[in-house]
Amino acid sequence: MTLRTTKTTKTTETMETMETTETMRTARIHAYGDASVISYDDVARPSPAAGEVLIRVAATSFNPSEAALRAGLLRAFLPVDLPHTLGWDVAGTVAGTGTGTRGFGVGDLVIGRLDGAGSAAEYVRAPVEVLVAAPRSVPLAQAAALPVAGLTAWQAVFEHGRVSAHQRVLVNGAGGGVGGFVTQLAKHAGAEVIATAGARSAAAVRGQGADQVIDYTAGPLAAALDGPVDTLLNLVPLGPPDAAALVPLVRPGGRIVSIATPVEPPADAGVTALHMVARNDPGQLAALVELVDAGVITIDISESHPLSALADVHRRSAAGRIRGKVIIIP
Ligand SMILES: NC(=O)c1ccc[n+]([C@@H]2O[C@H](COP(=O)([O-])OP(=O)(O)OC[C@H]3O[C@@H](n4cnc5c(N)ncnc54)[C@H](OP(=O)(O)O)[C@@H]3O)[C@@H](O)[C@H]2O)c1
Repeated sequence: MTLRTTKTTKTTETMETMETTETMRTARIHAYGDASVISYDDVARPSPAAGEVLIRVAATSFNPSEAALRAGLLRAFLPVDLPHTLGWDVAGTVAGTGTGTRGFGVGDLVIGRLDGAGSAAEYVRAPVEVLVAAPRSVPLAQAAALPVAGLTAWQAVFEHGRVSAHQRVLVNGAGGGVGGFVTQLAKHAGAEVIATAGARSAAAVRGQGADQVIDYTAGPLAAALDGPVDTLLNLVPLGPPDAAALVPLVRPGGRIVSIATPVEPPADAGVTALHMVARNDPGQLAALVELVDAGVITIDISESHPLSALADVHRRSAAGRIRGKVIIIP
């Protein structure tokens, strides 16, 4: 993609370019590094290829994994070409279709997880098969919070956690973007949900249906827990001692699923533990949309910012100052 700089005084050459090529604002990285590597570039608006649509982006959302990508921590298993436009989640309106594209047409409201990234931009192209119809019951921009966090929660609760009715489930890190969906999905499965949250998130987590909220800053979790749980869903990056301290909270025969630090129980604990990486699954995303429209799941938007604030959101996340889901409006 050609870089177009924004200029008030244009040369003949750039005038010609501006007249023949529509541009759009993006948030990109040209190198791995701290949040200062995020630059706001004007680039040519992409055209949808066969089987793709062009989406006018209503919002993307911030996911901490993308801060890890920006820092270069994921390059071994998620290499990207630089410059790389940030943004995995998208909610927006179809603004154009490539040849042979079926399923969605111009004007349709869609959401999706874009594994090629690029939704931290005014427009993004996307394969039509990764998109689903946006929920009708929430503002379109808010639905950008659903794909990555919602799919991760779905797979943690239903696939890996195998949460079902009458189980006791501990959600560690319920105040975060994934945690809000995990708490609600585990309740929807009929489980008793015990959730950890700090003071700033406790009310939201209770509102999401948690039966008990434990303040993780108040002392060891074991002291506040009334007996072991069947399943522990860990959503928090932890040091080895804190990860090990989770194991006795689970009954023998129970399960630990971690989306962050792997938890490795000793063999004699009798606890099954696994670390998961969420995959894209438009069928599950459509099921999440149905739950939103049925009023079963609410979307906990804690903040909304313009694209120009994305670097600051990355900094605040690193400082632990983000809770819930943050949406970014290009
Ligand atoms: N494996 C995967 O496929 C996958 C997918 C998505 C995300 N992730 C990872 O999973 C983690 C969670 O993602 P996210 O989007 O939910 O992150 P997030 O929104 O940034 O999570 C922030 C929340 O973490 C909570 N927290 C921090 N330290 C805690 C502790 N010691 N105990 C309990 N809660 C604590 C805070 O809760 P309070 O507000 O209550 O203080 C805060 O609200 C991240 O590390 C992310 O990179 C992995």
